[in-house]
Parts: sequence; C-alpha cells; structure tokens
Amino acid sequence: MKIAVIGTGYVGLSTGVGFASKGNEVICVDIDKKKVEQVNKGVSPIYEPLLSEHLKKVLKEKKLRATDNLHEAIGKSEIVFVSVGTPSKEDGSIDLKYIENVSKDIGRSLTNKGYKLIVVKSTVVPETTGKVVIPLLERYSGKKAGRDFGVCMNPEFLREGKAMEDFLNPDRIVIGGIDKKSGNILERLYENFDSKILRTDLKTAEMIKYASNAFLAIKISFSNEIGNVCKRLGIDVYDVMKGVGLDKRISPHFLRAGAGYGGSCFPKDVDALVRKAKDLKYEPRLLEEVQDLNRRQKVGMVDLLERKIGDLKGKEICVLGLAFKPDTDDIRGASSVEILSKLTEKGAKVRAYDPKAEGNTRRIFPDVDYTENVKDAIKGSDACLIVTEWEEFRKLEDKDFKKMRSKIIIEGRKILDPTKVTGFEGICW
Ligand code: UGA
Repeated sequence: MKIAVIGTGYVGLSTGVGFASKGNEVICVDIDKKKVEQVNKGVSPIYEPLLSEHLKKVLKEKKLRATDNLHEAIGKSEIVFVSVGTPSKEDGSIDLKYIENVSKDIGRSLTNKGYKLIVVKSTVVPETTGKVVIPLLERYSGKKAGRDFGVCMNPEFLREGKAMEDFLNPDRIVIGGIDKKSGNILERLYENFDSKILRTDLKTAEMIKYASNAFLAIKISFSNEIGNVCKRLGIDVYDVMKGVGLDKRISPHFLRAGAGYGGSCFPKDVDALVRKAKDLKYEPRLLEEVQDLNRRQKVGMVDLLERKIGDLKGKEICVLGLAFKPDTDDIRGASSVEILSKLTEKGAKVRAYDPKAEGNTRRIFPDVDYTENVKDAIKGSDACLIVTEWEEFRKLEDKDFKKMRSKIIIEGRKILDPTKVTGFEGICW
C-alpha cells in the first residue's frame, strides 16, 4: 500500500521503515530539512539498534523516501499516519500543538484527492482524535469524516532501543476506527503481521495506550515500594519478585525495583492521564502516588549517599550511566537528570560516564566532568552511583574500584555481581 508517515521521531521512523520492510511504499515527512536529508542518506537521526540497517535496505529497494513536502506526500498516499510528538505542558497536560498543526495541514491537502485513511499513531489522551483531529480535518478540507475520508487511532507500543523488533513482532495491534471501512483498510495493512488484532472505537484505542503505560508504571512503583520495605527488613526484593512473578496472573516483567522509571513516555503519559482525569472531575489518587513515589525513588540514591558520607559539598562523586535505560542515548525523564541536579545543587563535584548519552546530558549539565570510560570516572572518587544498567557495568570487579578514594558504591539497578564486587549497597535491596 502507499503510505505517508508524518513526523520522523523514533515512532514515525520505525513505523515508516517497518511498513516499508513489509513491502509497502512509504514516504516519511518531516519539517526538519536536516532530518529529511539524513533519512534519505540512510542515516537514522536517532540511536536505535537495527533501525539504520533496515533503513538502508528499504532505501536501496526504493520502498522509502523522505521529504519535507507534506502536500505531495499526502497526494501520493492511500494511508496517512500522524506520528508527531505530544509533549507535556507545565501542568502535566498534553500539548497538542503539533497534532493540531498537522491536522490542519492534512485537512488542506485532502481536497479533491479521493478517499484516504488518516491514522493517528501519536499518543493522545482519550477523545483527542474525535474532538480535536477530526474537526480540524473536516474544517480545513471541507470534507466529512467517515464519508469522504477514513480515520483510525492505532497506538504504538514500541520500546526505545527495541523499536524495530517490537514493530515487526507486536504483542497486539489495536485498531480504533471511526467506522468499519476505516478499520478494515488498516487491518489489511497489518495482514502479514503475526499478531492478535483488536478492533475498537477511537477513544478506547487511545485509552488502551495510556492504561498500558500506566499499568507498567504501577508495576514498577509497586516493586519499588515493596523494595523500600524489604531493604528495612534485610530482604532482597529481587528474590521476592522472582516468587511473585511466577504467578501467571502477574507475570515476571516490569518488577525490577531500583532508581525509578524514566523515558519520554511513562512520566509524561501518567501525568497526562492524571490531568485528563482531573478535567473530568475525578481524583486519580493511585496514579498520582505512583508518580510521586517514582520522583522520590529517583533521588533516593542521593539521600542514601548523604546518610553514608554526610555533607556532599566538595565531594567527588562518580555517576555511571545517564541514559534512562540501556541501548539508548535518550535522557528524557531519566533518573540521572534528577540525581545530577541534586548532586550539583549540594555542591558535589560530579564525574560521569555513559557509553551513549554524554552528548545529550552535556546540554543540560555543561559543568559536569564527563569521562571517556568507567575507569577515569571512578578514579579518585569519594563515592560511585550506578544509575543505568549498561551491560559493561555488569562486568565490573573489585579491582575496578581500587582507585576510589573511599569505596562507597550505591547501585540503582541491581547490576553488580556480588561474587565479583564486595561492599556495595543497593537502593532498595
Ligand atoms: C515504554 C513502553 O514499555 C512501551 O510499550 C511504549 O510504547 C513506550 O513507553 C511509549 O509509550 O512510547 P520505553 O519508554 O522505551 O517504552 O521504556 P521501557 O523499556 O518501558 O522502560 C521505561 C523505564 O522503566 C526505564 O527507565 C526503565 O529503566 C524502567 N523500568 C523498567 C524499571 O525501573 N523497572 C522495570 O522492571 C522495568
């Protein structure tokens, strides 16, 4: 099928490249000319394993190209995916400015070009497609949704660092349609995917995305809460969760306690759902507490550090890991951001190492001393905090910590091997 994907962030690009590798003809659209150039040269603007490989392949097969000309891309497509960003406003509510702009642009391009299907892929709070996107499409095209063009909401469940893998092998595909015809067209596009397809209306599809992310965030905060109690009892929460996760109704996933969840999705999406619930005059206390606990958990490492070494002023603190999780250079919502803020606010001298996320962190914390390897970060430090579970940290041994001024190690991700490293302490185990 002929597809346009608007917005080439990690969701848009993975979606475009994924559909192209399934044999469709894809045009990726972005207003950023530099991104368009990069994509056409086979360079992924984001670090995402497997994405560059797949991108090069589909470019060579002439199944994908990028452009900044939205009008032309829509003119040549049967299905138009909207995958622009939906950031947060100051109050935590969702900022729909990109969605609104794109809806107007698509509307203007829909005139006299035959029936097309518009699919919202961006994460938008329930009612957005029906109450914001469709009215703008109709107003700017002069056409009627359902009669002259189709509309679907098709949430994504891609994990950063595993976007291609998740796109090609999804657990489920959710298709919310304004009507049967719209859903049928999108279902045809997914027919060569080996996955369960769930058909819903527009706002149910929107809510499935938020409920999924909120539930995963709840699982993590729950594990952290149990972990905080376990620590006081001298129990290893990882052993506890191994036992808990064996219950099929619970599953062993997302029960890793530690320094809190980050990323561009969980913190933002739970906030947006809280705001939406409040707008509807409902107090979502469980969700608010999940977010609060997560905020406390992030800086819990610094609190523990202070309890161990006292005043942090002038102390040299080594931070290993800055990305919000391994295999990404993304620091949005990362625990490292809160930890670096608190350490620098308290006058500590921070030395940090991350295999991928140094560049992004440097933009927010230009005064931190970034090293090129673990060894240089650890050398001469008064304490070491392990914030991201990068594979290379798993291999650390006692001898790697020899050059510390004092051997205080606090880990936030349960990654050190106790048979290789002694005398470290976990944040909640
Ligand atoms: C998340 C969801 O997992 C995806 O399904 C969803 O599509 C995506 O958000 C989105 O909304 O676009 P992602 O943000 O890439 O994906 O990250 P996750 O792998 O889910 O991890 C999120 C955070 O939770 C990380 O900081 C991770 O360290 C933390 N985490 C995860 C824990 O602290 N404990 C766990 O057991 C699991």
